[in-house]
Amino acid sequence: MEIVIVPDAAAGGELIASAMAELVTRKPDALLGVATGSTPLPIYQALAAKVRGGALDVSRARVCQLDEYVGLPTGHPESYRSVVLREVIEPLGLTEASFFGPDGAAEDVAAEAIAYDHALAAAGGVDLQLLGIGTDGHIGFNEPCSSLASRTRIKTLTQQTRVDNARFFDSLDEVPHHVITQGIGTILEARHLVLLATGEAKADAVAATVEGPLSALVPASALQLHPHATVVVDEAAASGLKLADYFRATYAAKPAWQSI
Ligand code: F6R
Repeated sequence: MEIVIVPDAAAGGELIASAMAELVTRKPDALLGVATGSTPLPIYQALAAKVRGGALDVSRARVCQLDEYVGLPTGHPESYRSVVLREVIEPLGLTEASFFGPDGAAEDVAAEAIAYDHALAAAGGVDLQLLGIGTDGHIGFNEPCSSLASRTRIKTLTQQTRVDNARFFDSLDEVPHHVITQGIGTILEARHLVLLATGEAKADAVAATVEGPLSALVPASALQLHPHATVVVDEAAASGLKLADYFRATYAAKPAWQSI
């Protein structure tokens, strides 16, 4: 795993947006897996700025979802489809045709999850998957004790995650209990995994992910199994890392031509 410690969230967003821009320039129809929540917003803002400034053409890029709430009505502003349309697709000047994800309002949610897993493979696989991390160590919505080989499926959110996400809803009661999430096995099939974590609330989860043992109790620790996983953290999220100085020195010694 490559660990990059950046001064703040904006710097993390800029670094990751640059890596995505480099990928799309090399592979214009790249499939970009996007995450929702607060953490990746600086990435999307930095990416949109590059597009607006004419430095980047993403017109052929494709975008897919990491996860989706189950049971919200189609078009609900906090459904992850709506969030990605608002925060990624529209600012990048893309159309809905270049974007796909699981339908959390499907009649048969279990079948929808399996179909989404197949759709990802049929699209040629994800080139770069963005990830956030839950305070409980989840990636996607693979909560603690998810199988490290899991495929896209329905999961039940922990109370901690529902409380963490209640800020997007009028009340905790409105936060769905269930989600469709790419499984950990599914996520590990992406060619490059890029996890961004910012803020002190993520410090314990980051330390367990990077320096702890591989454990289903910390789903993000599965990144240790991936040949190309990058963890970008701000100083606050890095505050629990014992090897922080080593990670800083390693990144500083990286050749200038090498992207994350
Ligand atoms: C969102 C997702 C989650 C979030 C995580 C962190 O699509 O899959 O794993 O990345 O819950 O959320 P924030 O960034 O809001 O702290």
